[in-house]
This record gives sequence, structure tokens and C-alpha cells, in this order.
Amino acid sequence: MTRFKEIQQHLLQHQYRWLVTGVAGFIGSNLLEGLLKLNQKVIGLDNFSTGYQYNLNQVSTIVGADRWNNFTLIHGDIRNLDDCRTACKNTDFILHQAALGSVPRSIDDPILTNENNVTGFLNMLVAAHDAKAKRFVYAASSSTYGDHPGLPKIESVIGKPLSPYAVTKYVNELYADVFARCYGTQSIGLRYFNVFGPRQDPHGAYAAVIPLWVFALIKNKPLHINGDGETSRDFCYVDNVVQANLLAALTSDNAAINQVYNVALNERTSLNQLYAMMHALLVDKFPHLKSYQPKYAAFREGDVRHSQADISKARHLLGFEPGYAIQQGLEAAMQWYVDNLTERTDIK
Ligand SMILES: NC(=O)c1ccc[n+]([C@@H]2O[C@H](COP(=O)([O-])OP(=O)(O)OC[C@H]3O[C@@H](n4cnc5c(N)ncnc54)[C@H](O)[C@@H]3O)[C@@H](O)[C@H]2O)c1
Repeated sequence: MTRFKEIQQHLLQHQYRWLVTGVAGFIGSNLLEGLLKLNQKVIGLDNFSTGYQYNLNQVSTIVGADRWNNFTLIHGDIRNLDDCRTACKNTDFILHQAALGSVPRSIDDPILTNENNVTGFLNMLVAAHDAKAKRFVYAASSSTYGDHPGLPKIESVIGKPLSPYAVTKYVNELYADVFARCYGTQSIGLRYFNVFGPRQDPHGAYAAVIPLWVFALIKNKPLHINGDGETSRDFCYVDNVVQANLLAALTSDNAAINQVYNVALNERTSLNQLYAMMHALLVDKFPHLKSYQPKYAAFREGDVRHSQADISKARHLLGFEPGYAIQQGLEAAMQWYVDNLTERTDIK
């Protein structure tokens, strides 16, 4: 039996109290869904800056009324220490996802990114420590590898950050490390690599590549591939990220705690390959795609050329075994977008 299966069985027998920050966002709402399905009690904190009530409504429908009663939403902001303290009260495990994502957004507005991602993170660490939470698991980022050219990326070898966003995510790791030394806080950072899946927002200037493209393909709008299309990423389906969070929260191995881990597949997919896979999954449902052609645009500022994770540390110390390869993940994600993209009316 895998470690993840063991943990799922344990959780079905034992109910804990979890805090998920950024619960109305893409990854946060998938964590909420995963936890409620395992009959856990969840408090969610969100200020709805990039999250949606729609995401929460969808989780409610999926899990059903009984399980949904185990969820409490706090409409609050991690930049406010009192909100963090209220949310952390009596929680066992904290999965901290709230942050302003996107490299280009951070280049446009570094101060706002810093307030949310650094001040907000520090508030959460202080509140988690004071509330005596068992574990603080947080969303770190592959952007921390910055300009280091080595592939695949190994946790201990990083370069210089290439964007304000990358600085904030690296500062998170430094603070978590210092809190472990100074206050004995137990934390684990998960460096996510290009996560995708249901409920990832396809709208706005800062949308990630997969939702942006799927929207363009389905709606027959122009789709831009940045650079020559040979830029590559280690795309990771969101269920793998849910798994990593639960493994990190529940590990009792001292060697595994106060560490950072890559969370991805150890695979590299170029933008050209990604486009071909997505197009192939959608072309039968949308006849206009038979003659559809992408457009090529300039390289994007702050982007690294290639990214691929070595995931052996997460495998060995956490028992991480990604359940979804990229093709399976894309199939699940495309189906969700096909089912949901047309009906959504609450876009800000
Ligand atoms: N999606 C990825 O590929 C990826 C990759 C690396 C790291 N991450 C990190 O994972 C986390 C979740 O990302 P996501 O893709 O789900 O983004 P998202 O924008 O969908 O979710 C973020 C959520 O946090 C909330 N939030 C933002 N600022 C807040 C604040 N000040 N107070 C309370 N809530 C706030 C937003 O409203 C939103 O619901 C982030 O920390 C992000 O930096 C994501």
C-alpha cells in the first residue's frame, strides 16, 4: 500500500481540524475537496482577491451537504494578523496557499505582491506558532530556482531569483527555516511546479498557460505561444499537489520536517508539445479546431527557459508517488473546462 493510501485510511478514521488559506482559489479549493471527502473538519480563509465563491459552490456540490457541514469559511486577509489568529485557533494542520501568484503580476506590482506573499506569510507563521498548530505546510515555488541552469532541479541548489514573485517565495522558505530554529515551528515547504487542473482561473492578464490556452481553444480566440515554443515546464496535475500536502502534514519522520520539496513529475514538456496534446484532446469536440493555428509571440520577461523537478527527496522522505501523469491530468482538466467554461457567469 502506498503512503498516501495509508494516510487516506488514517484520515477516514480520525477527524482533524485543518486550516486552508486561499481556500477559494485553484489549489486551495482542491485541497478543500480532498479533505472534506476524507471527512475532515476544514476552516478556510480567503479575501477573494483572486479566488471565487463559484469554486466553493462547486466543492459543496461535489462533496454533498453532510461533508460540506464540516467546512467553515472566514472571509479575511492574511495581511491582517488578527484574521490569521482567528483562522489558526484550534487547528491541527495548516495548509497555507494564500498568496498573489504570477511572475508578470509581481513585475507590475512588486509592493502588492510583497504585502501578500511576505507580510501575509509572516503573519501566518506567527499565528500558527502562537496557536500551537502541529504543522505548517506552505506553498513554495519552483521560481526559487531562478537563473540556475541545472536540470533536473534539486532542492539544495538554487540560483538568483528572476522576479519579485520568486523573491517572495524564497523569503517564505527563509522565514520558515528561521522559525524552526528560533521557535521550534514545524513547517514543510512544497515547491510547486506549474500546477494545473479543475478550477484554475482561465481569465485575466495573469492566467496560467493551460487555462489560458484551453479558453482560447474552446472559444476560438487567438492563442499565443511565448518565444519559439521550446520553453519547457514540469506540468503537475493538482491531485498530485493535494497528495503532497497531506503527506507533508502527516509525516512523523523528523528528517522530513522543516524541509522543502519539489512537487512535480520529473518530466519536461515543451510549450509546443503541450499545445499539441491539448489540441488533440479538444479537436473532436470543437470542429473549428481542425483548422486552428496558434500564434508565436515574444519571450516573456522573468521566465526561465526550462524547468524540471528531481522528485526523489519527496519520494524518499514523504512517500510521494504522483498518481497522475501529464496526459491523464490533461484529460481530466480538459473535461472540466469543457463542462464548466460556458456556464460560468461570475467572473470579476
Ligand atoms: N498554480 C501554480 O502553478 C503554482 C505554482 C507554484 C506556487 N503556487 C502557489 O500556490 C498557492 C496557490 O496558488 P493558486 O494557483 O491556487 O492561486 P489562486 O490565485 O487560484 O489562489 C490563491 C488564493 O489566495 C487568496 N488570497 C490571495 N491573497 C490573499 C490574502 N491577502 N488574504 C487571504 N486570501 C488571499 C486568493 O483570493 C485565492 O483564492 C500560491 O501560494 C501560489 O504562489 C502555485
